[in-house]
Amino acid sequence: MATGERARDAPTGANPFAQDVDEQLPPPSTLVLFGATGDLATRKLLPAVYDLLADGRLPERFRVIGIARESDDAAFRARVRDAIAQHARHELDPALWQALEPRIGVVIGDFGSPELFDALAAALAAGDRADGVATQRLFYLAVSPTFFAPIAAALARVGLGRGAEPPTRLLIEKPFGRDLASAIELNAAIQASFDEPQIFRIDHYLGKETVQNLLVFRFANGIFEPLWNRTTIEAVQITVAEDLGIGHRAGYYDQSGALRDVLQNHALQLLSLVAMESPASFDASLVRDEKAKALRAVRPVAPLEDAARGQYTAGWVGGEHVPGYLEEPGVPPDSRTETYAAMRLEIENWRWAGVPFYLRTGKRLPVRRTEIAIAFRAAPHLPFHGLDAAAPANELVISVQPNEGATLRIAAKVPGTAMRVRPVQMDFQYGAAFLRESPEAYERLLHDALMGDATLFTRADEVEAAWRIVDPILRAWEAAGAPEPYEAGTAGPVAADALPAQDGQSWRPL
Ligand code: BG6
Repeated sequence: MATGERARDAPTGANPFAQDVDEQLPPPSTLVLFGATGDLATRKLLPAVYDLLADGRLPERFRVIGIARESDDAAFRARVRDAIAQHARHELDPALWQALEPRIGVVIGDFGSPELFDALAAALAAGDRADGVATQRLFYLAVSPTFFAPIAAALARVGLGRGAEPPTRLLIEKPFGRDLASAIELNAAIQASFDEPQIFRIDHYLGKETVQNLLVFRFANGIFEPLWNRTTIEAVQITVAEDLGIGHRAGYYDQSGALRDVLQNHALQLLSLVAMESPASFDASLVRDEKAKALRAVRPVAPLEDAARGQYTAGWVGGEHVPGYLEEPGVPPDSRTETYAAMRLEIENWRWAGVPFYLRTGKRLPVRRTEIAIAFRAAPHLPFHGLDAAAPANELVISVQPNEGATLRIAAKVPGTAMRVRPVQMDFQYGAAFLRESPEAYERLLHDALMGDATLFTRADEVEAAWRIVDPILRAWEAAGAPEPYEAGTAGPVAADALPAQDGQSWRPL
């Protein structure tokens, strides 16, 4: 396929940091999309395929097969074209589209019907025959989790699971289980059909540029790691705040809630990257070993003292009046699903003993902001008379979105003859330093999966360790009454303030 010489040659300005695009090309591949007409495929996956193509990062022999209940090649291609036009980073280039379009096809059938999988196997073989090459197969399950295990089993039945030749991989979207027991069961069911190295569980936060930069920040800079422990760090805060409500996702969200939807996966993944030990190399199993160890070291949570939840009521966000959760379309009027969840965790190892980690997430908060804030201990003694209160402790804030970057708060002298101290910020902004847009998380993840690199995908033991942390909270909340209401556009329920308050800390303002 004539891929993006155009994009590769795009001007990147004079900034030398912007000239490092890696050009590794995956081997010939076929991407099979289950849930090809769904929301995720439309908004993220198909646009990501196109953006990879436009950046010259797809193999010459590449095909997409959508699995749909009803459609045909022409209708599906038109749908893909619209999805790209609306959601891709790159504008739809007629020449690129001409190259991609004939390589998109559809296989029709019901996930539950064995004929679908026979037809899929035949379509894969036909595609390979036409191209004269055996393509590796990626099966992307962007479907309801009830289909994960049955699809895996059906693929194995037609020879596309464990031991398949050409090789196959299974990409699985969240949610992976709804508690510890169901996650263990799901892992076992899928591992009955695929080997763990073939299984790529998606947590799209791991595809975000700043999340990966956290590892570079920690392990490629000599100055931070010696400070990265209980001696210097007082507390860590991880925030995944959203200003949006649940939109039209009531069916999914009401069964899930903020703890399952974001804390169990995205926020705990961020925690594991902040807390892990340095891997000997950036190798999938070594990195994931360290992340899993960090998660396993989390002390069991006391749900009453160390967790808080809330549900938004009507209010104002961004100058607009918005309905409460219970008024959202499709939400049962007596729903007890939380739209805000927070927890306080401690990690029981030599590095972190005694350092509290506060995690929070919520819908309809005042802003959209994901950040990791590392609060350092205050200087032990200030030799400036009467200035103690004015010299704030250092704080490092790694901003994942919307403004990707990092900021270090330090104390500085206010110019003048008097000795006055004020906090100032040392700022690194991705956009300003690299003069180019970061790829979307799904581009990175799809490319890694095509390359067979599982580093940024969650392994079975990590997922189970994360569920083990939140399981007691899920159970406590199921047995308790309704969550505390908070007004849309505010920072969440009052009860959440008690979490950092136990340590004399408070949440960073949103
Ligand atoms: C998803 C959740 O996994 O992550 C959503 O299901 C949430 O509820 C989303 O809005 C947040 O992702 P991002 O990339 O917009 O921060």
